Amino acid sequence: MIQRWLRLLALAAALALLGTIQAAPTDLVSCLSDIKSTSNASYLTTQSSASYKTERLVFDRNFDYLPLAIYHPGSEEDAAAAIQCAATYNVAVTPRSGGHSYEGYGNGGKDGSLVMNVDKLQKIEFDPATGIVTVGAGVRLGPLYTYLWENGQYLIAGGTCPSVGISGNALGGGLGMLSRKYGMLSDTVVGLRMIDAKGELWEANDNNNSDLYWALRGAGSGSFGLVTEFKIQAFKAPDKVTTMLIHWPFNMTRKVIEAYGRWGSPSLSEDLFPAMRFEKQIELQINFLGSLADAEAALAPLIQDAGPPSDKVVHEGTWMEAAILWGAVPNLEAFRNPDLTAHRYHRGRSLLYREPLSSADIDIIIEYLTHPPEHSTKVFVIIDIWRGKIDRPHTPSAFDAHRAVYHSINLSVEWKGDSGNASASAEECLAWSASFMSKLEDVFPGGRPNVEAYQNYIDRDLTNWLEAYYRGGLPRLQALKTKFDPQNVFSFPQSIPPMAGKFNSQ
Ligand SMILES: Cc1cc2nc3c(=O)[nH]c(=O)nc-3n(C[C@H](O)[C@H](O)[C@H](O)COP(=O)(O)OP(=O)(O)OC[C@H]3O[C@@H](n4cnc5c(N)ncnc54)[C@H](O)[C@@H]3O)c2cc1C
Ligand SMILES: *[C@@H]1O[C@H](CO)[C@@H](O)[C@H](O)[C@H]1NC(C)=O
Ligand SMILES: *[C@@H]1O[C@H](CO)[C@@H](O)[C@H](O)[C@H]1NC(C)=O
Ligand SMILES: *[C@@H]1O[C@H](CO)[C@@H](O)[C@H](O)[C@H]1NC(C)=O
Ligand SMILES: *[C@@H]1O[C@H](CO)[C@@H](O)[C@H](O)[C@H]1NC(C)=O
Ligand SMILES: *[C@@H]1O[C@H](CO)[C@@H](O)[C@H](O)[C@H]1NC(C)=O
Repeated sequence: MIQRWLRLLALAAALALLGTIQAAPTDLVSCLSDIKSTSNASYLTTQSSASYKTERLVFDRNFDYLPLAIYHPGSEEDAAAAIQCAATYNVAVTPRSGGHSYEGYGNGGKDGSLVMNVDKLQKIEFDPATGIVTVGAGVRLGPLYTYLWENGQYLIAGGTCPSVGISGNALGGGLGMLSRKYGMLSDTVVGLRMIDAKGELWEANDNNNSDLYWALRGAGSGSFGLVTEFKIQAFKAPDKVTTMLIHWPFNMTRKVIEAYGRWGSPSLSEDLFPAMRFEKQIELQINFLGSLADAEAALAPLIQDAGPPSDKVVHEGTWMEAAILWGAVPNLEAFRNPDLTAHRYHRGRSLLYREPLSSADIDIIIEYLTHPPEHSTKVFVIIDIWRGKIDRPHTPSAFDAHRAVYHSINLSVEWKGDSGNASASAEECLAWSASFMSKLEDVFPGGRPNVEAYQNYIDRDLTNWLEAYYRGGLPRLQALKTKFDPQNVFSFPQSIPPMAGKFNSQ
């Protein structure tokens, strides 16, 4: 009896003490507002902030989710405090870097998330002695490539679009015109720093927390924690880089795809990266790390097999000139400062093949490209050839799911989403894309359950997407998800779920 009284008294005293020190926050926003910042750069945007309406927008404008709040950490301490707030109030956390997710996941991918926008984490520090560059999670590819070029003519092997964020690109793979020579961007990441759902900071590399290091490179987008910093191996740019644009008329599609499948055999030079685009005509874009004469020699067997092109534009120049061309921007300044207001209405789908395309695949591609949706502004298919160094990483990672991939193919449709008959156009284009994809899945080698796809072209309508993206690595990824985020704080519609039977992914 006396003991019970004592306990009640102690409880009352504790409550009184709490009351005098500080009222505990009662919701996410007050918890975030109460963070004692360690950086003046940190700030909070809530649904009542004037900038909320524009800040929530991401590159793909057909998604407009409503986050509960957007927090911009200026330091790792502030990021950790914000994540702890979200965990306390049971709010899903979604990181955002460049905002280029195909599904708008940089905005939560559903209403009601805490978006952690890392745009204040802009460190770039390059050590020429090791060739390793330390990069803040909010840096975009354009400014990073420009910095490395202007500080000793170095390069890193990532994506081609200058406004894409380093985080999403490196965590999900990162493919570009250098991949056959240096591997995926994730293969050149030598260290990362990540804050988990409890606000704890992890360093991950080959020797320390190597399980996390394995998972983040290929499966790290948004599922395990907030990555704050990358260490990436850069390479000295070659003296000469040659680019080519080679065109054939559309009616040569079958012949050209078949020749392309024969040409990209394992003996294809790793200095060469080809992307073939099928739209109104066929356009083969070549990047070659070397001279024009050597590029022509590497290309000759394809031209001989496919038949003469209708025209060819070639340029022998520097790596930076090639990057500007592949980045589809007019000049160096536009590459250094990419237009962050650019956006589109678009559906992009991905399929990865371990063998050349079949005659049935080619029939479907021709059929759909010759019957585009009436309200589309653009439809195209891109077929890349992978292999090369992509198949020989220096150390295992979650991207091992996609070694020995032969072709990556990219189906795209765009429409006008901000004027005219927007929603009807969207509906028609989405239906076309779904039907095209489904036809290709029907004839996928090994059948539909075997479908494989690239996680950086993330697609919530993809059949068996967890298996398609992570394949044999999935059980280990789920075990690591359970270790680093058992409460599933870092969740969005396509995050990796904790181990089966414990929690759901959404
Ligand atoms: C125009 C365009 C061109 C592209 N070109 C290429 C290309 O050449 N090669 C290629 O490989 N891909 C390319 N992509 C795909 C691109 O790599 C992916 O969409 C990538 O995820 C985008 O990264 P982001 O940081 O810009 O996007 P975000 O939308 O900010 O993030 C993408 C995903 O990563 C997560 N994420 C972001 N930051 C962090 C972080 N700090 N820690 C943990 N998770 C994080 C997000 O939650 C989200 O799930 C392109 C996409 C577009 C729209
Ligand atoms: C923030 O700004 C104030 C005033 O400008 C300065 O005194 C303080 O040192 C800054 N704090 C940090 C963490 O940078
Ligand atoms: C390993 O990482 C932890 C944080 O995750 C860090 O405290 C420790 O210093 C690191 N050890 C080494 C040897 O780098
Ligand atoms: C293919 O298209 C080209 C240009 O569009 C045209 O000149 C040529 O006659 C066509 N060939 C066939 C076999 O239809
Ligand atoms: C794939 O297509 C998308 C458009 O859907 C484009 O943004 C991206 O750069 C393409 N990737 C490659 C490697 O061609
Ligand atoms: C919008 O497009 C749909 C389908 O093409 C059509 O049925 C409808 O009449 C259009 N509406 C307007 C206002 O143009």
